Amino acid sequence: MNISIVGTGYVGLTTGALLAAAGNKVYCIDVDPNKINVVKKGKSHFYEQGLDQFVKKTVDEGSLIPTLSYEKSIPDSEVAIICVGTPSKGDGSVDLSYVYNSTESIARNMKNGTIIVQKSTVPVGTGRRLQKIISRVGKKGSVVSCPEFLAEGSAVFDSLNMDRFVIGSESEPAKQKVIKLFQSLDDYSRTLDLESFDEFATIYNKKLSKFTDIPFEDRIYSMSLESAELVKVSANSFLTTKISFANSIAKICDKVGADINEVMDGIGADHRIGRAFLYAGLGWGGGCFPKDTAGLVYSAEEQGVDFKLLKSVVDVNNAQILYVVRKAKEMLKGELENKIITVLGLSFKPGTSDIRISPSIKLVKNLTYNHAKIRVYDPKAMENTEQELNNDVYFAKDIEDALRGTELAILATEWPEFIEMDFSSLKKFFKTPNLLDARNRWPKEKVKKLGFSYSGIGRS
Ligand SMILES: NC(=O)c1ccc[n+]([C@@H]2O[C@H](COP(=O)([O-])OP(=O)(O)OC[C@H]3O[C@@H](n4cnc5c(N)ncnc54)[C@H](O)[C@@H]3O)[C@@H](O)[C@H]2O)c1
Repeated sequence: MNISIVGTGYVGLTTGALLAAAGNKVYCIDVDPNKINVVKKGKSHFYEQGLDQFVKKTVDEGSLIPTLSYEKSIPDSEVAIICVGTPSKGDGSVDLSYVYNSTESIARNMKNGTIIVQKSTVPVGTGRRLQKIISRVGKKGSVVSCPEFLAEGSAVFDSLNMDRFVIGSESEPAKQKVIKLFQSLDDYSRTLDLESFDEFATIYNKKLSKFTDIPFEDRIYSMSLESAELVKVSANSFLTTKISFANSIAKICDKVGADINEVMDGIGADHRIGRAFLYAGLGWGGGCFPKDTAGLVYSAEEQGVDFKLLKSVVDVNNAQILYVVRKAKEMLKGELENKIITVLGLSFKPGTSDIRISPSIKLVKNLTYNHAKIRVYDPKAMENTEQELNNDVYFAKDIEDALRGTELAILATEWPEFIEMDFSSLKKFFKTPNLLDARNRWPKEKVKKLGFSYSGIGRS
């Protein structure tokens, strides 16, 4: 099928490269010439594990066509998939200007009958507005909501192995066509030649064995436009609720001497609850959770619904950085000023260079505000962060450099290289061997035996 992806970011490029690898002709459109130029060279403009090999192969073969031109791509496409950003405005509402502008550009260039797939996460009711834009431009076409559930850090795996495919529209033929398109991706994943994608194969070796056996048709959830739009924001809000719940229980653990990891293992073993996302730490961030929760609170209010539960989830999260800063202060005998502190990890989660609303960056800013001397290191997000943080922060070359002379090391993003670091050989770099495990992934008993002072979140 010939398709256009509008917005060549995390979602757009991943979806575009994989749909192209699956045998479709895919135009990836963006308004940013820098991004398009990088993709034209067969590379991703951000770090996502395993993605580069798919981008290279499909650009080289000509099945993925990066472009700035709606005029050249949209008329040749049966389906246009919107993957532009939907950032939060100051009042919590969602800035839909990118979605509206791109819809207008698609509508002006499309042939009648083109299907517009809305993959960006939007407030409920947006799809109806897109239908009005298409009519205003004088064109005929269907709007389909097809929310994206990939997670950065495992985007390739998630896109090849969708646990569910949610689709909402008034038009049954449009739904069937979009289902056929994504069925091609699922079929492709079954025949994936791992030797050509060894980067993906190596990283996902463990997960690959868990590729679902459930046929694609049994993973399709077909529904109304409004229901599909609401599924996405509700799902993200529910995940943030789990994290804020774990962070609240962790505070009780700290008071009574329980270990949050043990408590959550016990809770998560209940199949009605599940273990995923029940992790205490620095709190949630990233390009999606903060704006999607704020957006749902705002939409609910517009409908006269006071979403007290979700407001509390957000409040708990906003307070979490301060909780961690207080712990850092306690470990440094009540003083942060002029203390040398190492922050390990800057991206909002491991496996990505994305630092949007990263809890780690918030932590660094708070510590520098308190006049601590900060040394930072991240395997993939240093370049992005240099633009975000000022010169008060020392950007280390590697873990050893980051720990040199430190009085406290904080695990802020749980990259495997930080979790598995060799504590006994690295101890000599510490001025005082203090570890603050803000992701609860360091081996508490082991590091204590090695002579470190250890504190976690709910692991006192
Ligand atoms: N990143 C994720 O993990 C993820 C997961 C699920 C859903 N989503 C949702 O998907 C959407 C996209 O997210 P993202 O992280 O890929 O964003 P992103 O910022 O990485 O990419 C968006 C791209 O759209 C481009 N763009 C803006 N206006 C445009 C226009 N008029 N025409 C063409 N391109 C335009 C931007 O230049 C940018 O490259 C958001 O609504 C997000 O909430 C993201």
